[in-house]
Amino acid sequence: MIKKAELHVHLEGTATPALVRKLAANNGAELDPSTFASDGEFRWTDFWDFLKCYDKAAAAIRSKDDYRAVTYDYLKRCASEDVIYVETFSSPDHAAQVGISYQDHLDGITAGIDDARRDFGIEGRIIVTCVRHLGAEKALAVAKSVVNAPHPYVVGFGMGGDEAQFHPKDFAPAFNLVHQAGLATTNHAGEFGGPESIRDTLEHLPVQRIGHGVRSIEDASLVEELAERQIPLELCPGSNISTGLYTSYENHPFNKLKEAGCLVTISSDDPPFFATSIGKEYEKVARAFGYSEETMQQITRNTIDAAFCNDELKEQLKSKI
Ligand code: ADE
Ligand code: ZN
Repeated sequence: MIKKAELHVHLEGTATPALVRKLAANNGAELDPSTFASDGEFRWTDFWDFLKCYDKAAAAIRSKDDYRAVTYDYLKRCASEDVIYVETFSSPDHAAQVGISYQDHLDGITAGIDDARRDFGIEGRIIVTCVRHLGAEKALAVAKSVVNAPHPYVVGFGMGGDEAQFHPKDFAPAFNLVHQAGLATTNHAGEFGGPESIRDTLEHLPVQRIGHGVRSIEDASLVEELAERQIPLELCPGSNISTGLYTSYENHPFNKLKEAGCLVTISSDDPPFFATSIGKEYEKVARAFGYSEETMQQITRNTIDAAFCNDELKEQLKSKI
């Protein structure tokens, strides 16, 4: 039984179509019919359309208790796949779009983490994210919320959204603010942007990890640097395949990056959008590259080392493996 951990999953993006429909019905909220395909799954075509679909589904989450329910439901599914730790991205900008305050969104998520620990023994922590295509001002506002209302479960700050818009240096004030407050940071880079997007992130932002980072594979000297500095890569193979970056797990650069000495981790990103789960990601990566159980278990240990939680929790988690 392989114990698993993940560091890169967007909380709003964990809600299944069934849960999204249920929350919308409970809230009397009308969902845009284009959110779903005829088979009931989320409908989107390309990356930008995925981001729009994500926003439409996220709009069903309308209250503190909805955030609790989404968190609890996801951690429950994870626990059933022997996942012991999840670092999830939360997005106060999505909460604000439906009138939920920073504090309520946070209180809902932390209640979901507490309830899931009580019921399933799984542990969770939060990385609060800003949305890149909403611009630097909004990012700074999110960063200020983070530092003004510290919470022991909020262990980091990150940025998702459309990598093609703005430049990492535009977000330096936001990242520096949380970094100076003692929080770790990560940025989506090298998913739809090329290697230069990763280089720009490393140059301008105080990051400890890279979200995706997979397209570093296009630049051998960057791969060498990432390996030498042991900067963890939050790789999400199934997500990359779904959004059309690679054609199969076998063709995904996961193994090449691992063989080059990079610190690789496995995550599911937005599981129901990409017809995956963290358990499936582990399984498919192991099968594609012929990894042994020991190799997979070592990936989990490395993942825990790369987590943003404190050392005491890391030791507790490792003792479960
Ligand atoms: N927001 C949710 N999922 C994302 C992804 N895969 N890349 C960038 N932003 C996201
Ligand atoms: Zn992501």
